[in-house]
Amino acid sequence: MSVPLLVEMVNITKKFPGVVANDQVNFNVREGEIHVLLGENGSGKSTLMSVLSGLYRPDEGDILVGGIKYNLRSPRDAIKAGIGMVHQHFKLIDSFSVAENVILGGDGTPMILNKKDIENNLAQLSERYGLRINLSAMVWQLSVGEKQRVEIIKMLYRGSQVLVLDEPTAVLTPQEAEELFDNLRQMAAAGRGIVVITHKLNEVMAIADRVTVLRRGKAVATLEKQEVNQRDLAWLMVGQDVVFQSRKKNPPDSAKVLELKQVNCLSDLGLAGLTDIDFSVYKGEIFGIAGVAGNGQRELAEVVAGLRAVNGGQLLINGTDVTGLSPRRIMDRGVALVPEDRLGTGLIPNLDAVDNLILKDYRRDLLRRGPFVNRRVARSNAQQMVDRFEVSLRSLDAPVKLMSGGNLQRLLLAREITSQPHLLIAVYPVRGLDIKATKAVHDLLLEQREQGMAILLISEDLEEIFKLSDRIGVLCGGRLTGILPAEAADIEEIGLLMMGSDRTGETAS
Ligand SMILES: Nc1ncnc2c1ncn2[C@@H]1O[C@H](COP(=O)(O)OP(=O)(O)O)[C@@H](O)[C@H]1O
Ligand SMILES: [Mg+2]
Repeated sequence: MSVPLLVEMVNITKKFPGVVANDQVNFNVREGEIHVLLGENGSGKSTLMSVLSGLYRPDEGDILVGGIKYNLRSPRDAIKAGIGMVHQHFKLIDSFSVAENVILGGDGTPMILNKKDIENNLAQLSERYGLRINLSAMVWQLSVGEKQRVEIIKMLYRGSQVLVLDEPTAVLTPQEAEELFDNLRQMAAAGRGIVVITHKLNEVMAIADRVTVLRRGKAVATLEKQEVNQRDLAWLMVGQDVVFQSRKKNPPDSAKVLELKQVNCLSDLGLAGLTDIDFSVYKGEIFGIAGVAGNGQRELAEVVAGLRAVNGGQLLINGTDVTGLSPRRIMDRGVALVPEDRLGTGLIPNLDAVDNLILKDYRRDLLRRGPFVNRRVARSNAQQMVDRFEVSLRSLDAPVKLMSGGNLQRLLLAREITSQPHLLIAVYPVRGLDIKATKAVHDLLLEQREQGMAILLISEDLEEIFKLSDRIGVLCGGRLTGILPAEAADIEEIGLLMMGSDRTGETAS
């Protein structure tokens, strides 16, 4: 039995200055299938699909649509050929309605639009695939999940037979992701070909009919889902075995390192950023904060580090009220922050590793002894840290901006951990890192926890939260909607909390 191919990419090579993003890649999409494109960060997934959707021109190779060679010079060409892509960053206009956004820029739309006809047409599309959306709502009113649905409807409305979604679940709660998967299954059942880009192994198992694995720009395998398991896939992605061992959980020590009592703060826009946040983190505990990004995570990290003003409530470190103290004072009480943007607030890009590693001490002790840093001592300390934390770098004296993401993160952790804080705030600590670097960072955090450090872990990756945390708090709309021990928590419940239902028993409908 041979299923017709909707599109075929043959020996596609795409180079960027200094990197071969796609290296002789073969990839095809069958009628009626969900084909997952799996690979680590930077393996070339977005590039390959941007080539398919006409955004990039390949340096070599051919694209066949329905068996015929096509020269796709723009996304418009690709859409005409029936290929549509939903990018990671949506391209909607906030001040327009859903229907207007869908129609906008579409090709072949008559000059005089019959609004009723179009809306009927859109209503049918959304109904058919279960894509719940209010067509007359303004885009600014929509949640991220709804915006994604608008992008999908837009592509369907333009006649996409092949629909590509780039990491679509990154911005969704587990329930929203499940709903999306249902929608996609219905589209595939109707004969369309769906490509889902992801780096998450469990998503392959959940929705794929077939999977193609990219590693460093090369397609290393295309397999039927029945033929694979997660372990094989991990091996294909990384090129070697990576063992994630589970850890032993200690009951939290009784000492409260961090305590927030009814803490409130404002957002950058002067609106409610956090509302009545109440929780504690104990010695030797990892407290994970789950939630869809943008629900108060950044505000929370900043409040605890003293970088954002508390506007009601109390912040305590080791039992002492530190509300309103400067970041410097809070740091002196043993709070360390590994921030979201490593090269913005964490490290100074143009300084070398030695200078970056002493930044903190410099502010602290050395400064008290006078403005001159003993460079030789600093350098040998830096070398020790680099060795101990296995940071690989070309030279201690090269600007850190030349280092890879994984090594930057290790450098930052080396500095913060060496300062022996009581509390470490880690914000998205493995964002952008590959599997090996992720494991190294996780191991470091677990090791510190074993030694009694309290860790406030903020992450949008639920798998990471579950793997590391002793207890999990869920943020939604700047409120803590629940706190659960990790053992008792299940992903369903966390998902509901992420959508704002609290633990009193009501569920989001
Ligand atoms: N527009 C671009 N300019 C230069 N390099 C790029 C560009 N887009 C991607 N790259 C590089 O190509 C490689 C593959 O990137 P990408 O396709 O985004 O990977 P993935 O989507 O799998 O994370 C990476 O090394 C990335 O840095
Ligand atoms: Mg990508």
